[in-house]
Amino acid sequence: MARPSRVSGRFLSRSTALGLRAVLLAAVLAVSAGAQSPPAASGPAAFAHVTALSQQIGSRPAGSPAFVHATEYVTEQFQRLGYRVETQTFPFQFFDETEPPELMMLTPLEVSLHPATMLYSTPTPKDGVEAELADVGLGREEDLRGKRLDGKVALAQRGQIRFAQKASFAAAAGASAIIIINNQLGPAQTGTLLEPSRIPVVMVPYDEGLRLGAWLAAGPVRVRLVVRTVTEQRTSVNVIGIKPGTTAPAEVVVVGAHLDSVPLSPGANDNASGVATVLEVARLLAEVPTARSIHFVAFGAEELGLVGSGYYVATRTLSVRGMVNLDMVGHGAQLLVSNSAGRGELLGIAEQAAGRLGIHVQRMSFGSSDHESFEKAGIPVVFIHTGDDNAYHTPQDVSSRIDPQLLAQAASLAAAVVLDIAR
Ligand code: BES
Ligand code: ZN
Repeated sequence: MARPSRVSGRFLSRSTALGLRAVLLAAVLAVSAGAQSPPAASGPAAFAHVTALSQQIGSRPAGSPAFVHATEYVTEQFQRLGYRVETQTFPFQFFDETEPPELMMLTPLEVSLHPATMLYSTPTPKDGVEAELADVGLGREEDLRGKRLDGKVALAQRGQIRFAQKASFAAAAGASAIIIINNQLGPAQTGTLLEPSRIPVVMVPYDEGLRLGAWLAAGPVRVRLVVRTVTEQRTSVNVIGIKPGTTAPAEVVVVGAHLDSVPLSPGANDNASGVATVLEVARLLAEVPTARSIHFVAFGAEELGLVGSGYYVATRTLSVRGMVNLDMVGHGAQLLVSNSAGRGELLGIAEQAAGRLGIHVQRMSFGSSDHESFEKAGIPVVFIHTGDDNAYHTPQDVSSRIDPQLLAQAASLAAAVVLDIAR
């Protein structure tokens, strides 16, 4: 749903004396830690991982053979750096599209449209559904109250409530399927319904949705929609590269990124960029001893509802002292930092680290990702990202749009935050 929401900036005010003391302490630490300072981050090294994951391996939805290849790639990278690798297996509801969806306007004239299927959409019957369209506004409860859709296909705008809620209100009113109109330019984007829906759910690009709405305002519109999907129980994995702590090995700092993509998207920014950055952080810290342990984690099944990170948190045996999440760090103007609970702790550490490194960051929140699984358990987190991208969750999310310099900045920043907590 990726609705932008500016996190209210709560900057801690300190007395000048305290500030001076902090600067002095940092200087002393920096000198004493001189020998252990990590090497500089490499944009090209990180970018090579983006190419491998998004181009050579390609789209890698959880439960697919490509996802398994991606886990093998990450495992090999961790092992090359000298880390022990643990693989956690967990169950999840696998979702796949056997063929792209089809949507045709039949009357008042024949036009073929470009829909994207929402994850966990139920399929249509084999020959599709053919019915009249019905405008349902935003598809909220109040938009549908008392409406009888009698097998019509609902046409709803994106926004304000979850896709799944629109689908369930439309289904309750008797719709046979629902088409959601994207609210930004570019291709139709997929996204998760979190669980199987009662009726098929697709999105159409903004311009196509506007045209459908205009035709519908002028008279009846008939459409045919074909959606071919399967949902079944499967397993996926988290891949963990482990660096044991020297003096407090039972305490761990997590730096992670989701490895899965949505179907039909190469997932270069979402989220080969984040995994590439985690691998670069792992390289930077390979020779740096830390008091606490570090887990470098490639999470599975994020796109279906943060499943892998939820499993990691639910089954943890070590005390997790902080989590740095990297999701979509390769396309945009600058790095952004946020966390949904608005806990200042790690945000402040990240901002200070960025200041030391000369990296420009701003507090801004976008989307929903694996750090939320940790936040729910009360663990301090920082989410590093580059904000919205109208190509994410589409076939256009390719590596040529990725900026190696942003990857290098994200790696330097994440490594600095991890060292601050794990040292
Ligand atoms: N990478 C996105 C989240 C995101 C979007 C981060 C925009 C930065 C900018 C993530 O993979 C995703 O798609 N999240 C879903 C929800 C999640 C529970 C599947 C989302 O935000 O809609
Ligand atoms: Zn995503």
